[in-house]
Amino acid sequence: MRKLITKGAIALGATVVFGLFAFTSENDSEYTTAEPLYKEKMEFNSNGELMRPSPDLYTSWIFVGSNVAPAELNTGNPTLFPGFHNTYMPPSDFEHFKKTGKFREGTQFIQVNVLTKRELNSGVGYSAGEIHTIKASVKSKKRFPDKPGNWGYFKWNDKHTNPPVASSKVQPTAKCNQCHVAFASDTDYVFLQNYPMLRLYDPNKKVDRTKI
Ligand code: HEC
Repeated sequence: MRKLITKGAIALGATVVFGLFAFTSENDSEYTTAEPLYKEKMEFNSNGELMRPSPDLYTSWIFVGSNVAPAELNTGNPTLFPGFHNTYMPPSDFEHFKKTGKFREGTQFIQVNVLTKRELNSGVGYSAGEIHTIKASVKSKKRFPDKPGNWGYFKWNDKHTNPPVASSKVQPTAKCNQCHVAFASDTDYVFLQNYPMLRLYDPNKKVDRTKI
């Protein structure tokens, strides 16, 4: 009788272990597909215009920081980009910056402007409202040989274009590059000082990351 019980227990144990194993390996296969789980970069169409990315793309990117220009604090001189400026990078471009402190050829950024609301339950301040503008930058010697730092700038929607356009021509230098040239030429025209997640790896700052 005892033998029978022992045999039964072994069989049951084996089934549970096998079951667990089967479950684990089935789960693992989700992470080992030959195809990447998401596309990593925005794409250009055959006219050299940058296609408007789906949020499915940049919700997989690295969030590097957010600056905020509430419309109500900019009434005298209305800001071009009211609200939060949520800024994202493709994971591999971010990793490259972490290792080298440089924005490599092909680096991309997306900035999502989100309007502010005065409804915050955690104190006096701003919460995130509607998405207002999606804009981007791409560093490419091949495509933008004459632009400062080879950065091309793009935007697909704002309060004047609703619904947004499907693709964006590179914006005129005077419209976008100019301000980046005026204030961020020491950091390859990217506003490095405004992104805490990039600043952590700024080779000129040597941040002690053990203290954070
Ligand atoms: C008045 C100055 C000014 C103008 C004009 C300007 N930008 Fe910027 N841009 C900034 C500042 C400042 C930041 C960083 C701080 C922030 O996010 O507000 C920034 C950040 C960005 C970023 C994130 C990556 C980076 O370089 O820091 C993108 C993308 C961007 N701008 C696109 C554009 C596009 C597209 C245009 C033209 C339609 C444009 N910008 C025009 C000031 C400007």
